[in-house]
Amino acid sequence: MGGMNRTDIPPVLVTGATGRVGRVVIDQLLDAGVPVRALTHRSEAAATLPAKVEVFTGDLTMPESLDPALIGAGAVFLVWTAPPQTAAAVVERLAAHVRRVVFLSSPHQTPHPFFQQPNPMAVLHADIERLIAAAGLESTIIRPGMLASNSLAWWAPAIRAGEVVRWPYGAAETAPVDDRDVAAVAARTLYQDGYAGGDYVLTGPESLTQAAQVGLIGHALGRRIAFEEMTPEEFRSLSEGTVPSSVVDMLLAAWSAAVGQPAYVTTAVADILGTAPRTFRQWAADHAATFTEGS
Ligand SMILES: NC(=O)c1ccc[n+]([C@@H]2O[C@H](COP(=O)([O-])OP(=O)(O)OC[C@H]3O[C@@H](n4cnc5c(N)ncnc54)[C@H](OP(=O)(O)O)[C@@H]3O)[C@@H](O)[C@H]2O)c1
Repeated sequence: MGGMNRTDIPPVLVTGATGRVGRVVIDQLLDAGVPVRALTHRSEAAATLPAKVEVFTGDLTMPESLDPALIGAGAVFLVWTAPPQTAAAVVERLAAHVRRVVFLSSPHQTPHPFFQQPNPMAVLHADIERLIAAAGLESTIIRPGMLASNSLAWWAPAIRAGEVVRWPYGAAETAPVDDRDVAAVAARTLYQDGYAGGDYVLTGPESLTQAAQVGLIGHALGRRIAFEEMTPEEFRSLSEGTVPSSVVDMLLAAWSAAVGQPAYVTTAVADILGTAPRTFRQWAADHAATFTEGS
């Protein structure tokens, strides 16, 4: 293999190709010698993709726009970040052209309080899973818990500014999973046989309170970052206009339910990759520069 494109296997189409998970899936597939097609819906985003990738412009909200990318592909990595209306038509098109789909979903079936709060995204994910099953596609469902990279969007602005991190439910416990581990599992299930019908909840190796996660970022930066509890009401009003209220409600309900009990932890990453999942401490060390840029 060694990075050589194999001509004996059909290309894998990666959607969400410029996103946090998809972008790394591409690198993993290329490393395994798998020919890769990437779907982008903003043409300028294509410039950030490796030269070896065959780039297709397409939009999940316009199902027919996917056909050129699908014709001749063997499998699809499906990341759904669009509104739900066109999901059925898109899955129908996938089934018409490819054999196999690996879908980036969430652990909405896991009986842990953190994952059992009202969540419109979970409803959409469940619908898409049903559509995939009904279409007769060979599928693998990947369900990351909390992505470690969420903390960049959440806490980096305050940390870069040298401010206290103010956040609700500091005692809420999650087991952040490194995006690279999620992508590595997705890639493995796309290029290796044996994962059809698989359904995997992916978590990091340990349960950590949100306050402890901020502490580990401080450790990576070599300085103490103060953490201050914020009320849910204040979080709600500060998020207004930047984050949809349905997302804010979902997060607050999940964190509230996650106080005082360990997060759900699985061995799926290690089982599939044969290596331990990366710790949050490792993730923070590898992203330290991103928390200091521009400061
Ligand atoms: N954050 C978490 O903790 C977490 C946990 C579990 C599951 N998830 C799930 O992970 C998914 C998000 O993955 P991600 O974080 O890798 O994505 P992301 O970084 O938010 O990137 C979004 C991607 O979607 C593409 N995209 C947006 N609108 C599109 C459209 N109309 N047609 C085609 N492509 C479109 C973008 O492409 P362009 O660059 O071309 O615009 C981009 O590549 C969501 O389904 C989320 O529910 C997240």
